[in-house]
Amino acid sequence: MTAEAERLKIVFVGHVDHGKSTLIGRILHDTNSLPEGKLDLIRQACAAEAMEFEYAFVLDALLEEQAQNITIDTTQIPFRTAERRYVIIDAPGHKEFLKNMITGAANADAALLVIAANEGVREQSRRHAYLLSLLGVKQIVVVVNKMDLAGYSKDLFREIEREYRAFLATLGMEPRLFVPASAKQGENVARPADAVMPWYSGPTVLQALDQLDGSRTAHEQPLRFCVQDVYRFDERRIIAGRIESGTLRVGDEIVFSPANKSSVVATIETWNAPSRSSATAGESIGITLREQIFVERGYVGSHQQETPIETNRVHADVFWMVDSPLRKGAAYTLRLATQEVRCQVVAIEQVMDSATLGITPGERDVARNEVARVTLQTRAPLVVDNHDRIAHLGRFVLVDQRRICGGGVVFGGVYTDRTSVKSQNISWSEGKITAHQRATRNGHRGAVVWLTGLSGSGKSTIARALEAELFRRAIHGYVLDGDNIRHGLNSNLGFSPEDRVENIRRVSEVAKLMADAGTVVITAFISPYRADRRRAREIALESKAEFIEVFVDAPLPVCEQRDPKQLYQKARAGKIRDFTGIDAPYEAPEDPEIAVRTDQQTVEESVSTILEQLLPRLRPEE
Ligand code: ADX
Repeated sequence: MTAEAERLKIVFVGHVDHGKSTLIGRILHDTNSLPEGKLDLIRQACAAEAMEFEYAFVLDALLEEQAQNITIDTTQIPFRTAERRYVIIDAPGHKEFLKNMITGAANADAALLVIAANEGVREQSRRHAYLLSLLGVKQIVVVVNKMDLAGYSKDLFREIEREYRAFLATLGMEPRLFVPASAKQGENVARPADAVMPWYSGPTVLQALDQLDGSRTAHEQPLRFCVQDVYRFDERRIIAGRIESGTLRVGDEIVFSPANKSSVVATIETWNAPSRSSATAGESIGITLREQIFVERGYVGSHQQETPIETNRVHADVFWMVDSPLRKGAAYTLRLATQEVRCQVVAIEQVMDSATLGITPGERDVARNEVARVTLQTRAPLVVDNHDRIAHLGRFVLVDQRRICGGGVVFGGVYTDRTSVKSQNISWSEGKITAHQRATRNGHRGAVVWLTGLSGSGKSTIARALEAELFRRAIHGYVLDGDNIRHGLNSNLGFSPEDRVENIRRVSEVAKLMADAGTVVITAFISPYRADRRRAREIALESKAEFIEVFVDAPLPVCEQRDPKQLYQKARAGKIRDFTGIDAPYEAPEDPEIAVRTDQQTVEESVSTILEQLLPRLRPEE
């Protein structure tokens, strides 16, 4: 285990003036964690100014010293009890706190929330708790501080506990302990307060911390190696990055997302140290690969069986921190680990006030201190994990004009098993011409517009009309149509579930190649399975093309009535089997980029709905 993993990281939060700094100063003092002579110096300084000594000064003095050495705006203060080593993460306000938690500057295992007994639960006490729940910090100790100012009242303590416990329960959080204390008087921090609070028999603050579970075992999670840079030395290429989770060993086969190319780790190098056979979560390393594949900053290495999600569409809860509101349609830069992509807010599903937890469903602007459930569409593929699976790859910040405006966590992403489609002993060769160069020459990017819907829903008709509209605009478009492809490339496939899966897999690969070549590919296949469409998206994103899923929706009775090829009739008569909608399933998209209702819209209307979304995405990057 690394040193990092052995220390328990605890973030200290609390309303201003509730005594957080005093508590930190007191803990440092009572655990003998202060540098020799520090306290005397502070006492002397206080005496010289005729000021009463306060433990909060200890923290101030320490911070002043640290400020010269550190660059991040959270402070990390070490101390130890007889049981173990700790790091206190102290953030001045919830904005810094959130920013640091999300960017990973501070990665807390647990939280200590301070509430002043004489003030009770305040707005910030609630916001902080909300942020902790958003960020998935589950272990919480609540310290009810300043008990001396509340006459060490048992009733008051119980009342605060009852009220805050009820609030935390609405967030699905269950605090480990509520501890009454007076940091100023040193009561119940390190030493039990039997004299002043005989009614309390629970642990002191330090004992409560010692009862928390140890660090999350990040090194046991799936591997996520986030590439920071690639260095070339003579013939060797060293891929430098940080292991955010899991363990990487020499000899491991590593898949790099988003390109989904793999190679075997030849060596692991660390600065000024002999090469090693393995490295684990929290370490920054360089690796060399046996086979040279194209890798760049932002790529994420993982093991084949446990790959992350590759997508251009994510659902997230975003906490908004600045005055100018988050708006639907607005574009931001999304930063996640070492990735940086442009994204657009395509939907705002609900907005919540982080203090009252009052929810407004539906679309509206998101103000400062509100949390919105949003859908983001990125311009380039994004490699993510759901936050509750791998926190480091599931959180991001939104940046506008170099300013961090919000932070979010990803949820609800679906993992695709790609092991079955992996070819052995074949390496992908890179061309000299980049997608960007092609896009600049063509005046537009390549894309895959994936139409899905029942037979007779209008996919082919819309595809042809869309192709014509693109042609009119001098955009290279091309339709891949179910019936046509089944005449040639896929003539050996029928309509059994396995054959349909293979049909869509081949089409996905062809579409990707064509998009890579710069074409706007329009596919018109029933593609009845969600998993297959998800994989089509991942495959397309390998070429960094846009992927847009369009649900061509018409109710079954309408399609059956249209029955352009009289196939529904045959299926009803039992003459053909496995007919989609009759005796084979159709899984409607849950979250398509676009849905058109062909029983309610004309072909022109459907096409213009698609064009409206598609055209802006085809613009080459600046
Ligand atoms: S998919 O399910 O594998 O995506 P695809 O779009 O290629 O299907 O082919 C569907 C077309 O094949 C239909 O529009 C229809 O014309 C024809 N077809 C013939 N038999 C079937 C069947 N059993 N189920 C669905 N479509 C069928």
